[in-house]
Amino acid sequence: MLNIVNVRKTFNKGTINEKKALRGVNLHLDEGDFVTIIGGNGAGKSTTLNMIAGVYPIDSGKIEIDGINISREPEYKRAKYIGRVFQDPMLGTAADMEIQENLALALRRGQKRGLGWGIKSEEKEIYHEQLKRLGLGLEDRMSSKVGLLSGGQRQALTLLMATLKKPKLLLLDEHTAALDPKTAAKVLELTNEMVTGEHLTALMVTHNMKDAIAIGNRLIMMNNGKIIYDVAGDEKKNLTVDDLLVKFSEAAGEELSNDRMMLAK
Ligand SMILES: Nc1ncnc2c1ncn2[C@@H]1O[C@H](COP(=O)(O)OP(=O)(O)OP(=O)(O)O)[C@@H](O)[C@H]1O
Ligand SMILES: [Mg+2]
Repeated sequence: MLNIVNVRKTFNKGTINEKKALRGVNLHLDEGDFVTIIGGNGAGKSTTLNMIAGVYPIDSGKIEIDGINISREPEYKRAKYIGRVFQDPMLGTAADMEIQENLALALRRGQKRGLGWGIKSEEKEIYHEQLKRLGLGLEDRMSSKVGLLSGGQRQALTLLMATLKKPKLLLLDEHTAALDPKTAAKVLELTNEMVTGEHLTALMVTHNMKDAIAIGNRLIMMNNGKIIYDVAGDEKKNLTVDDLLVKFSEAAGEELSNDRMMLAK
């Protein structure tokens, strides 16, 4: 499904700020894989997701989706089949548009025609049904402006928008990190339901090691621009946070230093 071969990325090459963000990342995902990604600050997690989405060009290597090399495809083209949810609830939705208008735009992703023809009533029924699934009462506020929603409600809506038109790949970058613990747990539960229920292929960056173990079928650890640990199935399910810390120091040759991660232990 997704095939990343020896991808490298250096930012600000040749300057005093040169930073090798990815030093040869190799990753193969099968259809339906739900992979959690952990690692310290600056490990290259977000950069990996950004490279897949086409935010920046890669320096070398290749990225394939369904056997097609997309390495040179611009971001807007990849957006047709890649859904994304970021850490910041303000990104991903349009604040001054209605909930139903945001959903309608998500459904029309990749199409030329905008909202000029209005939203049909059949379509509204679909949105109503989908919003109801979130369990946040948003189905009764479809003509409210998104700017009026709380961060958690906005993240749940962004998640719905990212999956409304089934994406080939869903990229989640610490999408619950800015939410209060209760709301974060709710959005995470929704994520799990959507990804497993609709058999989506997804990569989810999290700094919460417990979540990384509990969710998905595979876990990847990154350090210093490389994948240093990759575990799946029962072996993943049976991991403990302490196991992860040991794996990290074995593979990285150093202790994991990431305050947010340690706090979320
Ligand atoms: N656009 C950019 N310009 C310059 N340097 C960048 C850019 N994006 C990322 N970097 C650098 O690349 C390295 C990897 O960053 P990245 O954001 O991928 O880390 P991360 O694993 O997501 O960390 P965090 O847990 O803090 O989000 C860091 O040193 C970062 O400063
Ligand atoms: Mg990041």
